Amino acid sequence: MDRNQQLIEKRKASSLGGGQDRIDAQHKKGKLTARERISLLLDEDSFQELGMFVEHRSNSFGLDKQKYPGDGVVTGYGTIHGRLVYVFSQDFTVLGGSLSQTHAEKICKVMDLAVKNQAPVIGLNDSGGARIQEGVVSLAGYADIFYRNTRASGVVPQLSVIMGPCAGGAVYSPALTDFIFMVEDTSYMFVTGPNVVKTVTHEEVTSEDLGGAKTHAEKSGVNHFTSPNDVTVLQEVRDLMSYLPQNCDALAPHISNYKFDEQKITQIETILPENSSLPYDIREVINCVIDDNSFREVHKDFATNIVVGFARVEGRTIGVVANQPMSLAGVLDIDSSRKGARFVRFCDAFNIPLLTFEDVPGFLPGTDQEWNGIIIHGAKLLYAFSEATVPRITVITRKAYGGAFDVMNSKNIGADINFAWPTAEIAVMGAKGAAEIIFKREIASAENPEERWKEKEAEYAEIFANPYRAAERGIIDDVILPSETRQKVVQAFKMLANKKEELPKKKHGNIPM
Ligand code: HXC
Repeated sequence: MDRNQQLIEKRKASSLGGGQDRIDAQHKKGKLTARERISLLLDEDSFQELGMFVEHRSNSFGLDKQKYPGDGVVTGYGTIHGRLVYVFSQDFTVLGGSLSQTHAEKICKVMDLAVKNQAPVIGLNDSGGARIQEGVVSLAGYADIFYRNTRASGVVPQLSVIMGPCAGGAVYSPALTDFIFMVEDTSYMFVTGPNVVKTVTHEEVTSEDLGGAKTHAEKSGVNHFTSPNDVTVLQEVRDLMSYLPQNCDALAPHISNYKFDEQKITQIETILPENSSLPYDIREVINCVIDDNSFREVHKDFATNIVVGFARVEGRTIGVVANQPMSLAGVLDIDSSRKGARFVRFCDAFNIPLLTFEDVPGFLPGTDQEWNGIIIHGAKLLYAFSEATVPRITVITRKAYGGAFDVMNSKNIGADINFAWPTAEIAVMGAKGAAEIIFKREIASAENPEERWKEKEAEYAEIFANPYRAAERGIIDDVILPSETRQKVVQAFKMLANKKEELPKKKHGNIPM
């Protein structure tokens, strides 16, 4: 056969993966093939494949008769919105996408290239786990990947897209990356599957309930983004990439054709209810301050009492962290602290300035919270903000009470510019509780204790339930009208654009885990 023709034939064989029957089976499940996924993820015709002819080296259990060029993972590089990314896409049609030693070597090769060339890595996961016939070398292959995930953490963005099974120790590679995307109904992640669960704990649970996209989006917080199918999830990945820089030394891309609807300047005045104990949707406030349609919420269905996500201000990426009065009155608890902390650390690692909106009545009380370690988990958010050196702005819209006030990017933990609206209440605690404690004797000995309590509550509220005591002390920098927020934030971020701050020299910090 002509040599060129031979190459063409070999390429054709490799692109067929496990063969047409298995491709058809994959499609029947509503899933795309590894290559179809890559072509949707990357810019048209930009994919450059590496390792197309790699084959496994195992002869055990009949594997010598089951060799597929590429060995169950398609690897290489290409572009998203014209910017370089590295990608690996597991091919379920080849031995269930199981991970052999050579399959792992291919993944490690693109990860090493990504770090050397300072560009993100995106992994499309669809695999039955360790290649059972290969035994321990497959486990070692996983460890090689985990090691690289950890070394690359904070150097280049790492994204994991779960598009099929991801079970056993295999889950730890996505867990070590920055963001996890999951596809509804066709993807799941768990350390031990339903059968093992049944044997050990006698619980009956389906794969979907144990580790499907919804479970991990709402209950565990493992999943950051949920999509209905393969096509939409890959579009979401492309969209998220437009907010991220290439590496820890770069800035996110600037969008010059951003829009801002001027009507939002007056709209923002109407969001807060008259009664300060009533809820409102903090996302409305966020949207009135950022560029139009620029908010990309992260972890939308997990710990809904805090809202985090990427946005743009005058075309530049920022990270938004905001208490959500609509959910649990916006209190901080274990899950919201973990969610906030993880997001703050990502932004800080990748030079993304932070904008915090604060309306927090305090930490959630209760044995559940205390016994599960709110002390340690709350400290995570405090630690994450305190060590962040990116530009940091806070806007207090309403409540800023107690320790939660300190935690939410307060001036004294290093925020650069802190604003408060006239509706802000910045105090150690709510007026009612405060009056009860500090005027306990006076209230008890009064002729009408209820009335005296109300008087004292009003007295405390008059003094502290406003932003001016904090402004007098410089604990906030300015009191601003809600309608001024966009302009104040724009100016402050411009002023902070060249911010340079170094942490004290250390090997690494010891964030409460
Ligand atoms: C080798 C595997 C495989 C594996 C699947 N296949 N998983 N081959 N090693 N781990 C093969 C099947 O034999 C089958 O081959 C083909 O892939 C498709 O699998 P099916 O079972 O037909 O597909 P489906 O019904 O969709 O079920 C998918 C599945 C199931 C749920 C993933 O295959 C499964 O349970 N696999 C085993 C999972 C597992 O226990 N993995 C090890 C986990 S421990 P043919 O030729 O028939 O098409 C682990 C440790 C990692 O991963 C540790 C890291 C630290």
